[in-house]
Amino acid sequence: MKPIQVGLLGVGTVGSGVFTVLERNQDEILRRAGRGIRIHTVADLDVERAKALVKDHAQIVNDARAVIANPEIDIVVELIGGYGIAKELVLEAIAAGKHVVTANKALIAVHGNEIFKAAHEHGVMVAFEAAVAGGIPIIKALREGLTANRIEWVAGIINGTTNFILSEMRDKGLDFATALKEAQRLGYSEADPSFDIEGVDAAHKATIMSAIAFGIPMQFDKAYVEGITQLDAIDIKYAEQLGYRIKLLGIAKKTTVGVELRVHPTLIPAKRLIANVEGAMNAVQVFGDAVGTTLYYGKGAGSEPTASAVISDLIDITRMMGASSENRVPYLAFQPDAVREISV
Ligand code: HSE
Repeated sequence: MKPIQVGLLGVGTVGSGVFTVLERNQDEILRRAGRGIRIHTVADLDVERAKALVKDHAQIVNDARAVIANPEIDIVVELIGGYGIAKELVLEAIAAGKHVVTANKALIAVHGNEIFKAAHEHGVMVAFEAAVAGGIPIIKALREGLTANRIEWVAGIINGTTNFILSEMRDKGLDFATALKEAQRLGYSEADPSFDIEGVDAAHKATIMSAIAFGIPMQFDKAYVEGITQLDAIDIKYAEQLGYRIKLLGIAKKTTVGVELRVHPTLIPAKRLIANVEGAMNAVQVFGDAVGTTLYYGKGAGSEPTASAVISDLIDITRMMGASSENRVPYLAFQPDAVREISV
């Protein structure tokens, strides 16, 4: 059978990881998806940089709309980031009948409801595993692995930059600004690092998890958001003396009056597993009524970990393409119940 043809919009660190993993694991991917998955065209404003990253046959263009308009392309992968042009292109791709995979947490958290509505109307799927916790398959865990459960709460270290800063401040006694610079140097932070340190990035991810866990619309605007900028080294030291670690947690919790959605620094007893998640690693804990507490740990960013999530979405969509819209995995064709709203 002819391979699925993919158009990549933006080819930075994650895009190059997608090429590498698709090539290295092509036999496994073919077996699991039932069809080969091939990058047909890459669109990037910086064509020279793209040439250095694109390894094989793929065409390179500097116009994303040429990818969307190409009838040979089945799935568009958006790796541009941000709310602006990325939103326009994703909506245009959907209107053109393309399935979409995105790693863009800001886009899904803020404009997800509009995007899912458009996808529903055009009978296409939108997948976003890479938007939350990078390589940790937390969307699939919430959507499929725990599908028998009533989920009571989800809480996680879902921003690597802030976890790295807190770890460096505690272990090496670095001050906040130096630790942040180091996180930027290592490529953990967002283009605008205030999204990391003010908790916005974690709130985007918590919003997405809340929607999947509780079947509610994305309600980023209702989240309580507090970052780590008010923390001093002395706070971390006192916490340590009292037997606690400070972690920036993203929390979505069911209550009798709705769903709480919040991001803030949290004192966690030092003995807990999640308190020992160090550096830029991510971890998410989920409590389901049947399964109890479960914990997911791994790399929340980086080229191949994020590519792992993007490609798992490509495989999911490939598997589901033959199915009618009603029979597709819910949330690839996301239709929230809209029963419970956020209540902070
Ligand atoms: N800036 C993000 C983080 C990157 O630090 O976790 C991955 O989403």
